[in-house]
Amino acid sequence: MKKELTKEVKEPGVLKTIYERRAVRKYKDNSVDPAIISKILDAGRMAPSAMNKQPWKFYILTNKKTIKSFSKEIGKIAAKYFLKAGPRQIIKTIANLLEFPHSTRLFKGPDPVFHEAPVVIFITASRKNEWAALDVGMCSENIMLAAKSFGLDSCPVGFGKFVEQTKIFSQLHVPSEDQVHLAIIIGYGDENPEVHKRITDNAFFIDPIS
Ligand SMILES: Cc1cc2nc3c(=O)[nH]c(=O)nc-3n(C[C@H](O)[C@H](O)[C@H](O)COP(=O)(O)O)c2cc1C
Repeated sequence: MKKELTKEVKEPGVLKTIYERRAVRKYKDNSVDPAIISKILDAGRMAPSAMNKQPWKFYILTNKKTIKSFSKEIGKIAAKYFLKAGPRQIIKTIANLLEFPHSTRLFKGPDPVFHEAPVVIFITASRKNEWAALDVGMCSENIMLAAKSFGLDSCPVGFGKFVEQTKIFSQLHVPSEDQVHLAIIIGYGDENPEVHKRITDNAFFIDPIS
C-alpha cells in the first residue's frame, strides 16, 4: 500500500543542509582552511560502518599543480575506458548523458574531472571488506553535508577511482590491499545548480499507519 505523510512536521536543521547540498562543478579560486578540512574529515569518521570497522582512509590533495596532474591522468584513463567499452556501451552512455542536464560541463573546461576544486579527497578501504562501498558512501555523505554546513560545496567524483590505473597513482602511497572507491571535491562553489527533481513514487508503506 502506498501512503504519503501529509501532516505538517517541524523540520530539524540538518534537513536544510541536506536539501541545500548540490553537486557543484565550478569553484572559486579560494583555498580551504586546513582546520575546516580536518573538521569535515571528523564528520566523515562519525559515519556508521558495518561492524564498526571504520574502513575508510583519506588521501587529500590541496596543491593546485598536483590536482591538475591527477585530473589529467584520470581523464586519460576515463577516455580509454569509454572507448574500450565498445559501440553499444558508447551509445548507451551518450544517451544517458543527453538526459543528464550537467553533461555538457562534464567533459568541457580545463578540468572536467575535478572541476578546478581546491580540495580533492580520495577515499579508500580494504579490498577484503565486503561492506566497504556502503561504508564509504555513508562517510562521503557526512563529508559533503559537513562541507555544506561550513558554507562549502562539493561533488562526488566516481571517475576518481580510475586513479588506480594512472601512472602517478604511486604518489598517493595507497597500500595494495586497499581500493579507491571514490573521490570527493570540495571548495567554495561558483555556481548554483538547479535541484534535480527527485523520484518520489518509490516508498511503499506495507501496513497501515495506526
Ligand atoms: C557515486 C557517485 C559518483 C559520481 N560521479 C560523478 C563524476 O564522476 N563527475 C561528476 O561531475 N559528478 C558525479 N556525481 C554527481 C552526480 O552526478 C550528482 O550527485 C547527481 O546528478 C545528483 O545531483 P545533486 O548531487 O546535485 O543532487 C557522482 C555521484 C555519485 C553518488
